[in-house]
Amino acid sequence: MAAASVQCFGITMVFFCLMVTGTVAEILPSILWNPENPLFKNLGGTARKVNAFDKLSIICPNLVEYPIKRSSSYSKDLLYENVFMVDKKGYDSCNASQGHSILICNDPVTYSYAIIVFQRITADINDPKFEQGKEYYFINTASGLHSSLTNKQGGHCNDGMKMKIYVCKGSSDPNCFEGNKVIHGGWSDWSECEDGLQTRQCNNPASANGGLACVGQDRRMCTTKAS
Ligand SMILES: *[C@@H]1O[C@H](CO)[C@@H](O)[C@H](O)[C@H]1NC(C)=O
Repeated sequence: MAAASVQCFGITMVFFCLMVTGTVAEILPSILWNPENPLFKNLGGTARKVNAFDKLSIICPNLVEYPIKRSSSYSKDLLYENVFMVDKKGYDSCNASQGHSILICNDPVTYSYAIIVFQRITADINDPKFEQGKEYYFINTASGLHSSLTNKQGGHCNDGMKMKIYVCKGSSDPNCFEGNKVIHGGWSDWSECEDGLQTRQCNNPASANGGLACVGQDRRMCTTKAS
C-alpha cells in the first residue's frame, strides 16, 4: 500500500495505481487439516497463491464441526494432527526438526484452529513472517494418534499431507496470474435426497490456478419424505 501512495500523485492517477499495485487482502477459504481432505492430493507440488495480508485459517480435524469418517468409523482417537512451518528442505524430507509449530490438534472434541496472516511484520515476535515473492512450507508430522503429536518426522507428511504457499508480489506478479486468475472453490447446492444421502460438488466455482479447495464434506445424511 505504501508503494501505491508513492506512485500516486493526483486523484486521476489513483484508480490506475490501485489497478497496478493494489490487491485487496482476503479472508481465504479455511483449510480443514484432515489427511483425507482431497486438497492434499489435488495440490501435488503446486503452491497455493496468496496475497500479502490475506488470512488463512487451518482448522483441526474435529467432531464438532466436521464429522470425519476415517476408514469405517468416526473415531476421535485418530484425529490428532500437527502443523509445522518448515523450510524447503524440511518440506521435501518431511522433517520438522527445525520447524516452527503453528498448530497442535490435541483435542478432537473442541474447535481449534490457527489463523495465518501473510504479513511481513507481526506484533508478536514469535509469529511467522512472510515476504512477498517467496514460498512457505507447512507439513504434518503426526499420524492421527495422540502419541504421534510430538513427532518431528514423517507422519501424514509422508502420505502427501503438506502444503506450499507462495505470497504474490501484487496483482502484476507473473507467478500468480499468468493471465489466469486464482479461483477459490465453492460448493454447489446439495442434491435431492436419494436413499438417505445428499451430495454436492466443489464446482461452483471449481478451484483453479492455485485456488483453494472447498472446506467440508461432499455428502450428508438426509431424511427422504414418505410419499
Ligand atoms: C531432520 O533434521 C535434523 C536437523 O536439520 C537432522 O539433524 C536430522 O538428521 C534430520 N532427520 C532425518 C531423518 O533426516
